[in-house]
Parts: sequence; structure tokens; C-alpha cells
Amino acid sequence: MYTYEELKEIVNRAIHNMSYEYDSDKLFEPVKYIMSQGGKRIRPVMTLMACNLFDDKVEKAILPAVGLEVFHNYTLVHDDIMDNSEMRRGALTVYKKWDTNQAILSGDVMAFVANECMLNTPAEYLTKVSRLYNETAIEVCSGQQMDMDFEKINYVTHTDYLRMIELKTAVLLAASLKIGAIIGGAEPEEAQKIYDFGRNMGLAFQIQDDLLDAYGDAAQFGKNIGLDIVSNKKTILLLKAMELASGEQLKMLNEQTQTLDFDPGEKVAAVKAIYDELNVKTIVEEMASNYINLAYSSLEEVNVEEQRKEELQNLAAYLLKRTR
Ligand code: IPE
Ligand code: IPE
Ligand code: MG
Ligand code: MG
Ligand code: MG
Repeated sequence: MYTYEELKEIVNRAIHNMSYEYDSDKLFEPVKYIMSQGGKRIRPVMTLMACNLFDDKVEKAILPAVGLEVFHNYTLVHDDIMDNSEMRRGALTVYKKWDTNQAILSGDVMAFVANECMLNTPAEYLTKVSRLYNETAIEVCSGQQMDMDFEKINYVTHTDYLRMIELKTAVLLAASLKIGAIIGGAEPEEAQKIYDFGRNMGLAFQIQDDLLDAYGDAAQFGKNIGLDIVSNKKTILLLKAMELASGEQLKMLNEQTQTLDFDPGEKVAAVKAIYDELNVKTIVEEMASNYINLAYSSLEEVNVEEQRKEELQNLAAYLLKRTR
């Protein structure tokens, strides 16, 4: 079985070897920039790990795995415009380094580069994989729409939040795994169990991202801290705080999250002070941990030798402890 580090190396080599030989270098400079910055590469690694669960050879899944990473990076280029984020992976975001129009167009072309990679799926699985990939891409866009809509409404339920993070984040992790399983020759029921594992892991992953946005270390996380609070994102931290707050705390949370007029630094400090009073960080950490446990249960049901599952278990544990 391959380890995370070995598979990441395979993915990075394949990404490094990609060539973009078209007329306009300008279009592809931001593509090369973001694709060469690294990142955890968890989606393509998950594709290869899921393939490896059913097949000792992973070569046939490499290009589709890379396609999923290109798709992910494309969503990041556009997400950073939508979220006004200036830093990612410890460097300027594409729209900050170039400009918004360049980030839109270079992002657009990445979606098609991703499609091209996906077309390298072995012919016998191509229709199935393409259908899942497209459905997932549409779901991610729907999740991003909900995320933006929620900035402007004051009351979001727990169910709304879970659906939003399922769509914007979890389905891509789930599909990355399922695509690997399909290419590895898994039976449909087994591929579906792997999908469920990824969905639960993806929910934990986005909850962890919300936590790191408030409590992470900017140097390690590579993104500016506190931006979710500044832009009134309906994170699980805010939802929990709203649920638990009363009196002055609730009044203050309502004031702070209904406008963008506050001084950003002061707003982050004020909202985090309420989170701390309400012990929100610990409660949310426990939620993430519960979803990882659900993920483990889904993985247990997959009908392959237990020892073949170890790398996926390790990956889930690593994601829960991550600081970047
Ligand atoms: C960031 O994804 C976007 C989210 C879904 C939270 P990652 O945390 O996987 O980003 P990279 O690719 O490792 O930089
Ligand atoms: C991003 O969620 C989800 C997608 C890019 C689809 P976030 O907006 O929380 O991701 P980061 O924190 O900017 O990486
Ligand atoms: Mg976003
Ligand atoms: Mg963002
Ligand atoms: Mg985030």
C-alpha cells in the first residue's frame, strides 16, 4: 500500500509535468502559479488511496486525480475573489497578484484543463466518472452560492449550515474517493460506502477549516485569520455562539454580524471574546471529531481487508489534527 507522502509525490510529479502549450502565456501564468504552490493535495491523494484499496496499481487513476486537484484549485481562485481573501498557501492570491479579471479567466480555463484530465479515465469507467464529476462540480457551485447568500442573512439553521458545507466542500472529497474506487474496480456498493466515508470526513474538514479561520496561526495556515468573522460568514462557530448566547452577548453578536462597518481587528477580537466565553472552540472541535468517527464507521463497512484501510484511517486522523 502507498502512503500519503508517496502518493503526494506521485501527484506532485504529474502536476509538475503538465504542459500548457497554447497561444497565451498570460492566461496560464496564474494557473502555473497556483498549481505549483503545493497545498496538501488531499483530493488527488484520496483518489489514489481509494484506487489502491481495490487495486495494487494506481497509475490509471493519476490523471483523473490530477484533474480533481486542478478543479479544486480553480474553485480556490474564484473563491478568493468572492471572499476578498488576499493570502493563500502563504502567498498572494491570484486576484491580488494579478487582478480580478485575470483570476476569473485563468480560473475558467482551469475548469476546462480539469475536464481534459478527467477524459483520461480508462474508457470502461469514463461515463460513470464523468457523470459523478459533473454532478459534483454543480454541487460545489450550489454550496458556494449558499455560502454567499448566508453572509447576508442573519439567521441560518444548523441544517442549512451542514447542507452548505456538504455541497461546497464535502462532496468533492467524497467524489475524489469514489472516483478512485471506481477506477480501482470496486463494486458500486463498495464505492458508495467510500463516498459516505469521504462525505463525513469532508464535513469534519470544513468544520476544522472554520476553526482554523478563527484560531489558526496565519504563518502555518497560510491564510489571513479572522476573515470569516469580518465578512459575516455563517460558520459553525458563529451558529453555536448564537445558539448559546443570551442578553448582552446575543445583542452584541447580532450587531456585529449584521454590518460590515466595524473595524476588522476590533470586530474579530469582540466576536472571539464571546466565542471564548461560551467555550465554542471546544464544542466545535468535538463536532469535527464526531464526524471523523462517523467517517471511520463508514470505512469499517467497506468490504476489503482491514489492513488495506490503514492509510485512509491515518489520513482522516491527520486531517483532524491539521494546522494548515
Ligand atoms: C481549502 O482546501 C478549501 C476548503 C475546502 C476548506 P484545502 O485546505 O484542501 O487547501 P489546500 O489545497 O491544501 O491549499
Ligand atoms: C471554500 O470554503 C470552499 C470552496 C473553495 C469550494 P472557504 O472559503 O472556507 O475556503 P478557504 O478558507 O478560503 O480556503
Ligand atoms: Mg468561501
Ligand atoms: Mg474562502
Ligand atoms: Mg475557510
